[in-house]
Amino acid sequence: MVTKFFYTSDIYKAKAQDLANFLGMSACSGPIKNDRAHLEFGEPGLSFFHPEARAKNPFNLDFQTGSSGWRLKRADHEKLIKKALGKSDKPLKILDCTAGLIQDSLLFLSLGHHVTAIEQSKILFLLLQDAVNRSKETHNELFKNFSLIHGNACSFGQNADDFDVIYYDPMYPPSKKSALGSGQLEYLSKILEVEQISNEPQMDFEVLQLMPVKKMIVKRPIKAEPFDAGINYQVTGKTTRFDVYI
Ligand SMILES: C[S@@+](CC[C@H](N)C(=O)[O-])C[C@H]1O[C@@H](n2cnc3c(N)ncnc32)[C@H](O)[C@@H]1O
Repeated sequence: MVTKFFYTSDIYKAKAQDLANFLGMSACSGPIKNDRAHLEFGEPGLSFFHPEARAKNPFNLDFQTGSSGWRLKRADHEKLIKKALGKSDKPLKILDCTAGLIQDSLLFLSLGHHVTAIEQSKILFLLLQDAVNRSKETHNELFKNFSLIHGNACSFGQNADDFDVIYYDPMYPPSKKSALGSGQLEYLSKILEVEQISNEPQMDFEVLQLMPVKKMIVKRPIKAEPFDAGINYQVTGKTTRFDVYI
């Protein structure tokens, strides 16, 4: 777990303590020490710092400045996701079992769908919640059909009967260089590391596959073995593949 939860000025003390309570911690004032993994709450919102991450700035999510950028950069990805979802004349209710940095949830939302995203990491959940709340102040429209839940998607079980699609994008194996491709993904791995969270994607897949939904979309590295041979169709990109189970 992180060792400290700092607030950068007394005006942030109450909010920082509120967030720290969720982690079972106490918030404290600076000076901020960068020799250990920690959280800090201040003017940019909530940030996470890890001394071994390549990026030297604290990790802070910001969907306000990124809101058009992420979409342009991911135009190819958007085409693949659209194909995997298929045609629908009404907005789909999508359960994103692996919220992560909600890049895929943002795509689903931008296509007009309704998204419930689940994240198992408490730290990431707080970072996401904080960034979404900040973003709602200016981009309220984008998040109007979005809910974020903390927990393990495998515990969601029968509660998923109200969804059209479940989406599953587990972490790539840690040995893959691509998993460290961006500073953001490296930070994501570091957060899971400090919380000592590890997953068995094959086992999680088998539990999630039992959910009573019409379609399950699984994102995989292009060359990875499928979790199950009964794929109905695949949508393939250069490095990524979507396995669709109906
Ligand atoms: C590869 S990332 C997902 C990236 C995400 N699709 C995006 O667009 O940013 C995987 C994330 O899912 C979370 N995760 C993995 N298995 C989970 C599960 N069974 N329940 C909830 N969260 C899970 C991990 O903690 C991690 O944050």
